[in-house]
Amino acid sequence: MKESAITVIGGGTMGREIAFVTAMSGFHTYLVDVEERVLDTAHQQLQKSTARLIERQRMSTEAVDAGFQNLEFTTDRDHAVQNSSFVVEAIVEDLEIKQQLFAELDAVAAPETVLASNSSSIVSSKLAQGLKHPERVCNVHFFNPVLQMTLVEVVGGEHTGKDTMDRSLELVKALGKTPVVVEKEIFGFIVNRILMAIVGEALHLYEEGYASIEDIDTAVKEGLSHPMGPFTLMDLVGVDINHGIQSLAAAEPHDDLVKEVSPVLSKLVEEGNLGRKSGKGFYNYSK
Ligand code: NAI
Repeated sequence: MKESAITVIGGGTMGREIAFVTAMSGFHTYLVDVEERVLDTAHQQLQKSTARLIERQRMSTEAVDAGFQNLEFTTDRDHAVQNSSFVVEAIVEDLEIKQQLFAELDAVAAPETVLASNSSSIVSSKLAQGLKHPERVCNVHFFNPVLQMTLVEVVGGEHTGKDTMDRSLELVKALGKTPVVVEKEIFGFIVNRILMAIVGEALHLYEEGYASIEDIDTAVKEGLSHPMGPFTLMDLVGVDINHGIQSLAAAEPHDDLVKEVSPVLSKLVEEGNLGRKSGKGFYNYSK
């Protein structure tokens, strides 16, 4: 089934780029946020990032123009949702706020409209609870920066209908992205679980005095051919973000992936050493 139009809810880091990708792929797309101001910023950010990609010859001017033509910025969420066959939610990572939104979407959207969450840590069964049509709810998880990253994890729970999974996969392919399917819900899906395992072991080796930060990074880069080591990566993503992910993972019941939050991560967060963005994290960037 070809989707009629797409609504992306949340015009932040992820939502605006997801919306641009769907618009560039020929779908009429509504980008919804609660405030006009956020939508103006989203528009400006998209103009900047696409201009850079055109300059580097990663995108053509025609494709970018088509993207902006198909993209409608709006605060009228219900109008957008009623005119769309597929909705991607990319609002703040807060369970209660997302649950409230999904309840409202369930009441407003046509019954066959797919409601997909881009959440990194909230599985869709938590959002489908109590809805009239839980079968249309799933996770469709894009990676940052969406304009450049090709992978998308499509995750179904016991409540998710086959049609919802099939349509999500079809849409991801129509966007020129590579879908992978997660058949059963699990915290962190595939990529973030594997990343958390690597990061957790790197922190363990350092904390127990087996190796230095620099040598662990060199070992992972040169021994596993990763583009950067785990400590460099944590500094880039933000030490606080990694701390948040570890805290969420440690709180997951019946899941041993992260047993406790790393003391070194907690200390850095307390000191305000959050990585590149604060000038210091595992490494010093002040020079
Ligand atoms: P963000 O904070 O940049 O943007 C969230 C946007 O949602 C804000 O513009 C806010 O105004 C808007 N918003 C909040 N409540 C709303 C509502 N009820 N209706 C409409 N808009 C609302 O967040 P970001 O980083 O884009 O993350 C969004 C989602 O994507 C989260 O669930 C996160 O887990 C997920 N994600 C984030 C990644 C990242 O690297 N930032 C990577 C993959 C997934």
